[in-house]
Amino acid sequence: MCGIVGYVGKHAASSILVEGLKHLEYRGYDSSGIALAEGNGIEVIKKTGRVAVLAGLAQKHASKASMGISHTRWATHGGVTDENAHPHLSWDSKIALVHNGVIENYKALRTFLEGEGATFRSQTDSEVLANLIAYYYNLDETAQNGNRLVCAVRQSLIHVEGTYGIAVICADLPNEIVGARKGSPLCIGVGHGENLIASDVAAFVGRTQNVVYLDDGQIVHLSREDFSITTIAEETVSPVINQIDWKIEEAELGSYKHFMEKEIFEQPQALENAMRGRFSDDESTAKFGGLNLDAREWRQVDRIVFCGCGTAWHACLVAEYLIERFSRIPVEVEYASEFRYRNAPLDKNALFFVVSQSGETIDTLEALREAQRKGFRVLGITNGVGSTIARESDGGVYQHSGPEIGVASTKAFTSQLLISGMLGLYLGRMRDLSFGDGREMVKAFKSLPGLISQILDQADQIKAIAERYAEFQDFLFLGRQSMFPIALEGALKLKEISYIHAEGYPAAEMKHGPIALISEQCPSVVLSPHGDTLKKVMSNIEETRARKGRVIAITSAGKDFPDSAADDIIRIPTAHSCIMPILSTIPLQLLAYYIACKRGCDVDKPRNLAKSVTVE
Ligand code: M6R
Repeated sequence: MCGIVGYVGKHAASSILVEGLKHLEYRGYDSSGIALAEGNGIEVIKKTGRVAVLAGLAQKHASKASMGISHTRWATHGGVTDENAHPHLSWDSKIALVHNGVIENYKALRTFLEGEGATFRSQTDSEVLANLIAYYYNLDETAQNGNRLVCAVRQSLIHVEGTYGIAVICADLPNEIVGARKGSPLCIGVGHGENLIASDVAAFVGRTQNVVYLDDGQIVHLSREDFSITTIAEETVSPVINQIDWKIEEAELGSYKHFMEKEIFEQPQALENAMRGRFSDDESTAKFGGLNLDAREWRQVDRIVFCGCGTAWHACLVAEYLIERFSRIPVEVEYASEFRYRNAPLDKNALFFVVSQSGETIDTLEALREAQRKGFRVLGITNGVGSTIARESDGGVYQHSGPEIGVASTKAFTSQLLISGMLGLYLGRMRDLSFGDGREMVKAFKSLPGLISQILDQADQIKAIAERYAEFQDFLFLGRQSMFPIALEGALKLKEISYIHAEGYPAAEMKHGPIALISEQCPSVVLSPHGDTLKKVMSNIEETRARKGRVIAITSAGKDFPDSAADDIIRIPTAHSCIMPILSTIPLQLLAYYIACKRGCDVDKPRNLAKSVTVE
């Protein structure tokens, strides 16, 4: 959460920073601000509200400064006020800082600095760090100018407990930015005659495709012409320049009204990308380039543990069903946020997967580190190329979904489900899954883009249904087996973007409690695919309707599910069970999206949420 952008170059920094922030707004949108190195000091412009508000103010200011830092905030310490917005200036106005993370010992540091004469304007933990850097900068008057700021940052960070991604400028040094990270992402955009620093490549991919990802404990010193990286322990780091594999146009809305809508409709292509080059020549199994385990090592794995948060956790639950069914390897699913603290007993031959769209979720990253600390191999499934999880895991699978900007995850989720199913196939074929069964699964995966397009073609019909239900305040989502996590995901999508209370339940559990909620005021969305449990689910629907609860059914059961069986029916294609969770998800995404639109909600930036959760 929180987005940082810094620029040093030849052009006017202000508009470049604001443009960068627009691409990071998904990380937080409480307030935003910029600090510009003007000839006579540092000018700070900051305001509560969206980046659009800041853009207006910055345009009026019309600065020619060619260096500056900027920030879009997701509040942790201190309310959403202009004073608490970043950048923060030190009490002597010499240092300006933007920060993403949490300074846990800020109270003790503040007391110390107040004793030294520092004054504070905000309630934030971040302002403490600006003042601490100014304190060390002022102590070290004999050092060379450039190094003096790096030294002051290094000295300060030695005393900091917590997490940070920071960018710092100094009024004395109009061609220098110092950045550092621990626990919060930070990368450098390497340009020609200009350099940038940001929380995410999205902020600068429009200016350069060259990126250097910083690791924890590293400090970067940027100027217009150059950059150098050292560690807090003063070691020199040789930077590795990577190429960003997507273009800025992919992160733009085009003709869509919202990113969520765009990303729902991009799913045929996103899934195509996730499959490309990942089936064997005889088309009977999947293959993955980056798992870094040979067949013998796989044979020794007797348990797999999946960890993730939010929607990624739902993907882990689906992975449990698919991998257990097709490979018979036992799978456990952990909330990444709980795993680190509960000290679970683990099988010696367990293998870990962490699942994260961004690759930066702090809870998932810490789960990865905890598992590695205990000596386990951890593989990552992530969309974040070059993300911290991608870099720290022992191998893994990239989703290749393209940038996902909408806070509500859509195409990243279905890509995670696809990769889970393909892993089930891959592991199954190493065990008891036959050649013929493998080929059927490959055929099914390959049919996904076309089948999803067929469902998307029904968007108008789904919109009409959504609009009839937009006024309700409570919803139940029900499904059995692998449809249970899809029910959870449907409920999460609805609540996060429309603020409607929604609960996901295994359909058969309804009678053990949630049935008490059923009334004319509480409709249910029931996942009713063809197959073994269809009759049971249809009985659950009867029980609901007998209590005046309206039912929207999503079914692939054709004639076995007559029109009279529910109040509203969304029909999806009948397909192999390995892809039914994906097909069933699409109508739920569309329902949530159209309900939220009808209610006038800010779909891409729901209240209180941020796309990438980098604080615990
Ligand atoms: O980037 P990650 O996949 O690690 O993010 C995990 C969750 O924060 C995320 O899925 C969240 O639940 C979304 N808002 C769901 O739409």
